[in-house]
Amino acid sequence: MKRVYLVGFMGSGKSAIGKRLGTLLNLPFYDMDTEISNQTGMTIPQIFETYGEEGFREMETEFLRNFQEGYCIIATGGGVAMREENRKIMRRTGLVFFLNSTFRDIWRRISTDINRPIVQRSTRHELERLYQKRKPLYLQCAHFKVETANRTLNEITQYIA
Ligand code: S3P
Repeated sequence: MKRVYLVGFMGSGKSAIGKRLGTLLNLPFYDMDTEISNQTGMTIPQIFETYGEEGFREMETEFLRNFQEGYCIIATGGGVAMREENRKIMRRTGLVFFLNSTFRDIWRRISTDINRPIVQRSTRHELERLYQKRKPLYLQCAHFKVETANRTLNEITQYIA
């Protein structure tokens, strides 16, 4: 086992917890969206606009296929668990933690976010359906399920560590 992958829906705290976990465990932290943005020189909305969602999904898979870093923490994008190949790579190369949040909490955190194209183009109802559809896939690739409701970011970080 080499890496720790954090998976879960948008707004479940993957990046905030990943950053804290990296500091606590003294391991490098990578945010997949940031890495892809840096590699392309584009923001996530620009990538969606230019290459479409499929283009972005391909970039996520390419990132996972080519990533070389050993021991580290990786906050994945909320859609990464949708592809079987991604799920296989993550399980093979690390420990996968699913950050489970209620849709109510998620909606509170993401509803006004203009940097998430999926949120921009969807109604609350559509997002809730997407959340329901993805949940089994997060569970399928995760080695551990972490409940985040009513816990602070530091408490969740300590628990995973
Ligand atoms: C997405 C989640 C985002 C980002 C992109 C698509 C998704 O990452 O990868 O906007 O499909 O759920 P976060 O989960 O970090 O918001």
